[in-house]
Amino acid sequence: MIERNVDLQSHNTLRLTSTANAYSRVDSLDGLSAAITFSQQENIPLIPLGEGSNVILQPTVDAHIVDIQLRGIKKIKEDDEHVWVEVAAGENWHQWVMQSIEEQWYGLENLALIPGRVGAAPIQNIGAYGCEVATFIDCVNYIHLDKVIETNLSQSVLTAEQCQFSYRNSIFKQSLAGLTVITSVVFKLDKVFSPQLSYPALKQKINMDKAGTIDATTVANAVINIRSEKLPNPDHLPNAGSFFKNVVANQQQLDALLQDYPDAPYFSYEATQTIQSAAKTSAYKIPAAWLIEQCGFKGERHGHLGMHEKQALVLINYSDQAQAKINASDILKFSNHIASTVQHRFGFNLHREPQTLP
Ligand code: EPU
Repeated sequence: MIERNVDLQSHNTLRLTSTANAYSRVDSLDGLSAAITFSQQENIPLIPLGEGSNVILQPTVDAHIVDIQLRGIKKIKEDDEHVWVEVAAGENWHQWVMQSIEEQWYGLENLALIPGRVGAAPIQNIGAYGCEVATFIDCVNYIHLDKVIETNLSQSVLTAEQCQFSYRNSIFKQSLAGLTVITSVVFKLDKVFSPQLSYPALKQKINMDKAGTIDATTVANAVINIRSEKLPNPDHLPNAGSFFKNVVANQQQLDALLQDYPDAPYFSYEATQTIQSAAKTSAYKIPAAWLIEQCGFKGERHGHLGMHEKQALVLINYSDQAQAKINASDILKFSNHIASTVQHRFGFNLHREPQTLP
């Protein structure tokens, strides 16, 4: 059923005031086909939306918002070392991670508790605690919206390489932006567990909690604990996770920073796939949270908005919804102020992580 003039405040974790021209839920490919036909007839763009955990919705969304609820988890094949599993786009990400561990399919442990759905994971190549989802993706199935003729829904597929994954980026945010609905993701997971503990805070947490052998559940639980300690629950404090990407700097930029700030944190950056040739020789990530904290924004409120007291990278909407309505332009204004303060002091450009829609 297609609804008109739908309030999207409960469909985005920043709880922004926003109204969509049209809204529907689809739980089958037939339903998706009908939704696409409707958008074509009305001549309005179709925008898929899951849990709305990484979006900044404009006050008016002149589009057909489609809540993709396709479900299903299916083992496709296996060999001695790996298992290939197709997971429908509408599955909840965290529940899928926990199920994969139960099935003894390994690789996704470090990505536990990331909000959102499976279909959103490849778009921004979700990552945490030394892992990126791209490493475990075999291919992505999707519908190319410009190629749907009448009700003929033929699915397209991109291999992981074709997805052009890089840090919080993929072809779905670049040349295919706005043109696709991801229907399922095929993961290639390990049958033998090997912990990925390159992230110092994770290693430390595990060593504190447990001596002896480390299994996948131990790692997932440690990740869940760290995330719960640092990252605010959007049900209590509306937010979209990391609001900016970390800065990717070259050797020269890093050296210049360390000259002025010898204690600045940085991590050497290993891209999943190719990175820009200019940065290929040596690239480093400089935590945007540190830059923002240095500029005095951590825990600070500006009106109804502020940066989280425990993680300076998380922008919070503190407004009491009954009294103050925060919209996208308030968020963009505040975040531009932060970015320009950081740029002025450090010379680095901060790039927003959540996508502004439409
Ligand atoms: N830091 C500060 N101040 C802070 C917080 C952090 O100076 O308030 C510095 C510290 O030096 C710390 C470093 O930043 O060591 C890294 O902080 P943290 O481990 O919290 O991770 P992050 O780089 O800020 C990234 C991801 C998160 C992911 C974590 C853990 C991005 C944009 N964000 O944040 O992803 O959970 O690493 O791996 O890459 C998300 O994308 O929504 C998200 C939460």
